[in-house]
Amino acid sequence: MIQWFPGHMAKAKKEIVAILPLVDIVFELADARIPASSQNPMLAEIIQKKPRLILLTKCDMADSTLTSAWERYFQDSGFGVLAIDAISGYNIKKIIPSAREMLKDKFNKERALGMKVRPIRAMILGIPNVGKSTLINRLVQRRAAAVGNRPGVTRAQQWIRINPNLELLDTPGILWPKFADQTVAMHLALTGAVKSEILSFVDIGEYFLDFFRQYYSKLFISRYKADLNLPNSEITARIVADRGIIQDDYYEKAFEIIINDFQNMRIGRITLDRIQISQ
Ligand code: G4P
Repeated sequence: MIQWFPGHMAKAKKEIVAILPLVDIVFELADARIPASSQNPMLAEIIQKKPRLILLTKCDMADSTLTSAWERYFQDSGFGVLAIDAISGYNIKKIIPSAREMLKDKFNKERALGMKVRPIRAMILGIPNVGKSTLINRLVQRRAAAVGNRPGVTRAQQWIRINPNLELLDTPGILWPKFADQTVAMHLALTGAVKSEILSFVDIGEYFLDFFRQYYSKLFISRYKADLNLPNSEITARIVADRGIIQDDYYEKAFEIIINDFQNMRIGRITLDRIQISQ
């Protein structure tokens, strides 16, 4: 887990800014369950006018109605967007055509100037655990070397030719998430994007129970057979009792179970970052 300090952030930013002139487009990865919380707060400032294709990763774990709403939101904000599942391969084949479409004018201009047709050059950017290496491996269709969680990008960059239409920087750019906002921090901790030093299972779990009181209560009840109108102490006692767990810190243990179940998709498809659903 990266500990982000101001020095790391400045270095990560500097390395990405240095490499940007070489790329035509940025593939920005965001987690479909937390499309806003998993974005880097300075991305727009870092990449300036570079075209940005937002790839909503792990869409298999997110609420599809909300994923569509988020897709519309990003489209309306002028970005390219695709919801992907890099494990099953869902929508992976659409990445190159979407990037080509976004870069149509640039490539037409190059052709008009007599330049040779060339592959798109892209780089992947995103916060830790958002699915960068999984996507690279999927695109490359072989097991690429493990990419360490180092901030920024590493020095010796190499281009991987995915096919005649796309070249990808082999090392993704790793950026920091938005730590400042409490809800964002909760959502990052819940999805496992960051290990929070400050937030305990109890803090995160109590937040999550309140979330379930508002959203997806049916999914919660169906998993735990526990009435969300009851106080947290009774809900948690029921969850541990059902699992035959007898221990003093059952309150914390129950939250650990819920969070673990969520991260392993045992509760259902859940999106934490809410957005207006327009018809
Ligand atoms: P990173 O390079 O951005 O740090 O992320 P990485 O590819 O390592 O992916 C982090 C975890 O997310 C991995 O789980 C990976 O399998 C999972 N993942 C990535 N893309 C998808 C997707 O589209 N759908 C689903 N369901 N999962 C995806 P892991 O190896 O089990 O890691 P962890 O859960 O033990 O941290």
